[in-house]
Amino acid sequence: MGGAVYEIYPRTFYDSNGDGIGDIAGIIDKLPYLEDLGIRTIWLTPFYPHGGVDGGYDIRNHKDVDPEFGSIEDIKRLIEQAHNLGIKVMVDFVPNHTSNKHEWFAQSCDDPEGQFGNYYIWVDPKKRGPNDPKMPENVVGGDRLVGMPEEYTVPNNWTSIFSISEREKLKKQYGGTIPEGVKVPAVTAWVWHPGRRQFYLAEFTKEQPSLQWANPTVRKAQTDVLHFWFDLGVDGARIDVLNHILKDPELKDEEPVPDGEYDPNNDNPHDQKTQKYMVSYKPVLKLYIPQIQAVADKYPDRSIQFVHEDWITALKGDMSGDQISKLRPELDTAFNLARLLQTNKEGWRAAIHKRLLDLYHLAFFTDPDLIGGIPNEVASSHDVDRVVTRLGWHASRAAALIMLTAPGTPYIYQGEEGGFPNVRYEDIPLRMRRDADMGLRDGERCPMMWSRRKNAGFSDAPAANLWLPVDPNYLELNLEDQAKDPCSFYSLYRALLHTRNSSEELSHGGYNPMETDHQDVLAFGRSHPEERRQYITVVNFSEKEVEVAILNAKQNLARIAISSETVLTEDRSKVIRLDQGRIKLKPYEALLLEPVA
Ligand code: GLC
Ligand code: CA
Repeated sequence: MGGAVYEIYPRTFYDSNGDGIGDIAGIIDKLPYLEDLGIRTIWLTPFYPHGGVDGGYDIRNHKDVDPEFGSIEDIKRLIEQAHNLGIKVMVDFVPNHTSNKHEWFAQSCDDPEGQFGNYYIWVDPKKRGPNDPKMPENVVGGDRLVGMPEEYTVPNNWTSIFSISEREKLKKQYGGTIPEGVKVPAVTAWVWHPGRRQFYLAEFTKEQPSLQWANPTVRKAQTDVLHFWFDLGVDGARIDVLNHILKDPELKDEEPVPDGEYDPNNDNPHDQKTQKYMVSYKPVLKLYIPQIQAVADKYPDRSIQFVHEDWITALKGDMSGDQISKLRPELDTAFNLARLLQTNKEGWRAAIHKRLLDLYHLAFFTDPDLIGGIPNEVASSHDVDRVVTRLGWHASRAAALIMLTAPGTPYIYQGEEGGFPNVRYEDIPLRMRRDADMGLRDGERCPMMWSRRKNAGFSDAPAANLWLPVDPNYLELNLEDQAKDPCSFYSLYRALLHTRNSSEELSHGGYNPMETDHQDVLAFGRSHPEERRQYITVVNFSEKEVEVAILNAKQNLARIAISSETVLTEDRSKVIRLDQGRIKLKPYEALLLEPVA
């Protein structure tokens, strides 16, 4: 797509009509801000009518706008005005599940023989013998099995991705840390439906029944959703949990996590099990994914883009070899979540990030299955703690410099450009906590801090009516003040984006791994293969000042274009010799060196 994508969580971006909830008209108001920042595409997380349990990802109607956000007319206006500014628009496509309030689900429950009867994954109950256990090992029913007759049990041991509440309970019971050896129960992925006397699968909350992708009518209905938005002028889609649509048709039990690999305190749901059968079931990939891609082929004169989410592959660190990416590089690859997962205090090591960057970005120039695909970089989203919270102030500025000088498409989450941290959980009043099931994602979803005005300029509503509270630190961290400070977080992002947008090498050039003579310093270059000069990113991962030599630069002369610490300063304009001199880096400092003409 060329240029940076900016993820917007509409609820907390900008409220144009003072009801406390961000809206589409508010996004339109802020388009000039985004253009000035240097953004080339916006991705909107779901704004569709929803059931209110999973931040918009429980959709009631895929082809409409929830009235709290506006109307289809507003979306049309947004697309038109964004396009006038050269900004593309991506929507969130949620193929795997709907809300239980979706019309399809209502019909599916009421009429098993009807048109929608097989739209979801319905399974007959298993009868258990007198000595059989009530539930599979370490699986609990929670409130999902209400009304299930005693003699039944769930179809298999699959569990919900949102099983965190069980772990939280145990953590409390053990005073913070669960002792090794304790297995944390997870909530079954099945929900008993007394009407149909069957179970339906719901991998996230119980209000999000999973669609039956093996049913061609479902596939058609969902690809029609894409047509609906592309026909309206939308330029691409972020595909929600794409790896979840692939399930083992025999519903085989997951295998136990190997001994020694189980960590009772790890609340990353994907990390605890093999998840071979409920998620990422490879044999059916070939069937489904090309059908999604074929939608884009219907618009030959437009460049429709996809990016999709696959946490499991990222956890295995197996990014380039991922089958999903390889199957259709045009499906624009998975989010590069592997590096995001290491962007925290424990993972902030030069060797770790060098390995991940080199492996991933080189693959797009060397692996025949990936050439032509578009790599990406992502540091935060509406699902993970904000990068400043994970990494601290200085290192997260360095992380931004890496992200915005690496190849491919950078994905910036709203507010990342202001260095906003999570709002602390304790600062979110109980009655305002929204992400009940996961519990933990409200902190990164709190409102944008635009200015010093009331509610940080996010909304005119009384503070008590806001969807989520504004960070009490907004007087120090708002964007209006930051725009006046040449060294602010915002100024760093803006300088990096503008430099990137005006440089052919940084936008489209190759990736050159580089060596330095210091173990805490990583470097890579950006140039076209035939070029003798390159941009160089050099990053000090340590908390100490270092002096370093870059060992395999293409050229001898360079100039410091941007520092993550001081952004742009006058003495930075001097030319340095790479062949003789050593470069000085402050603690956690990253530099972008530009070629000297
Ligand atoms: C994706 C979304 C997340 C949502 C989940 C279920 O991971 O990013 O917010 O909860 O899918 O739809
Ligand atoms: Ca509003």
